[in-house]
Amino acid sequence: MGDLGDLNPDHEPKMGKDLVAGRDKKLWGGRFAEKTESSVEAFTASIDVDRRLYRHDIAGSIAHARMLARQRIISARDGAKIVAGLRAIQREIERGVFAFSRADEDIHMNIERRLIEKIGAAGGKLHTARSRNDQVALDMRLYLREELRLITDLVDALKRELGRTAKRYLKVIMPGYTHLQRAQPVLFSHHLLAYVEMLERDRERLLDCLDRVNVMPLGSGALAGTTFPVDRGYVGRLLGFPRISRNSIDAVSDRDFLLEFVSVAAILFVHLSRLAEEMVLWSTREFDFIELPDSYCTGSSMMPQKKNPDVPELVRGKSGRIFGHLMTLLTVLKGLPLAYNRDLQEDKIPLFDTVETVKSSLEIIRDLVRELKVKPPNMLQAAQDGFLNATELADYLVGRGLSFRSAHTVAGRVVRYCLAQGRRIEELSLQELRRLSPKIERDVYGFLTAEAAVRRRRAAGGTAPENVRRRLKELGV
Ligand code: ARG
Repeated sequence: MGDLGDLNPDHEPKMGKDLVAGRDKKLWGGRFAEKTESSVEAFTASIDVDRRLYRHDIAGSIAHARMLARQRIISARDGAKIVAGLRAIQREIERGVFAFSRADEDIHMNIERRLIEKIGAAGGKLHTARSRNDQVALDMRLYLREELRLITDLVDALKRELGRTAKRYLKVIMPGYTHLQRAQPVLFSHHLLAYVEMLERDRERLLDCLDRVNVMPLGSGALAGTTFPVDRGYVGRLLGFPRISRNSIDAVSDRDFLLEFVSVAAILFVHLSRLAEEMVLWSTREFDFIELPDSYCTGSSMMPQKKNPDVPELVRGKSGRIFGHLMTLLTVLKGLPLAYNRDLQEDKIPLFDTVETVKSSLEIIRDLVRELKVKPPNMLQAAQDGFLNATELADYLVGRGLSFRSAHTVAGRVVRYCLAQGRRIEELSLQELRRLSPKIERDVYGFLTAEAAVRRRRAAGGTAPENVRRRLKELGV
């Protein structure tokens, strides 16, 4: 994957002038006798990818500068100049006039260099008591914290849309499946609410992950901490962190919080891919349970009749990207010696692409759920065909005193008889049924309808309408 900016222009700070390559003076240039090779510059630069952190980098720097001034590590005057300079730089980036430079490697040094250009010597004081190692750890946490909140809201929105659709079609009966074979009648609403449960767990996992993202690492320096009398708690409060990190070595090398997030995203994508798959399946002529709106489908370049469900297919397919990103991150982190290593820079693309992919997929699936047309008669018809009431017959016989095992055998024989006759269970006469089991009475027919099958599953968590209605109420739908 190349520059993410090409893929997601909306999420990039505007690029004004072209990247300025090969500035001769590095911010860390003092020790070096030779200029960096341009190939090395190009290879190591991360600015194309990490410039999207500009807001977080600036927010972190402003908090750091305010703390430095408050602790009298720098003068109040310099502190104020730095804060004003950083705000002006943010406006430059947002107006698209900031000249990003690959020679300055990353977003941190691009901003610092510009600050020094703008306010002079005072700008050089910002990096007191700070390293890019704790700085980038802070930026990543600020970024992910913000995105986690947006993503949690999108998960909620999808839950809400599923809930609304469930309410609209509350009593619609469809076949429930196991092994993709028709199994027992269920409410379509109950089936949709299964996804709501999955998404609720995803939401809990996101919030749990947020708890560990929400830790403030600044003040760890390069790895060992800092000699300056910093007030880390103050920086944490300014930036809204409930906790600060406890070990400087851990704080600069920890990327567990990214692993956690991408793991949670991978699980979320397992769920989205299943929902997407059912949309694909249900909109086939073979199933014909739903119709996806034309505006969300695409045609074939060759076959004029085709209407393809590309959107859910792509959601299903994008799960592969997310699982890949998880593997990338695990592999980047595995076996790294403490503390910071440049390998960690490779966390950016997997994280950013996961965030963007999760957001766009949640949005479009939510819209699809809202727009899809449900075909209740087809669902009901499918639920009435294929002996989905065989369990009802067995349960009925248990009520007449048979053990479940014997009842199962009898119902199995009834199905075999029906298959040979090409008829449904409820089409057999009472006489025929009684020949297979004398325990059967006339009231059996009341047990054999799909409605009865659904209505009688009242045990907690079952598909009975009253259960579904209660759950919808709990969900506030
Ligand atoms: N661009 C770097 C990253 O993303 C920032 C930290 C660089 N630190 C260093 N010691 N070279 O990880």
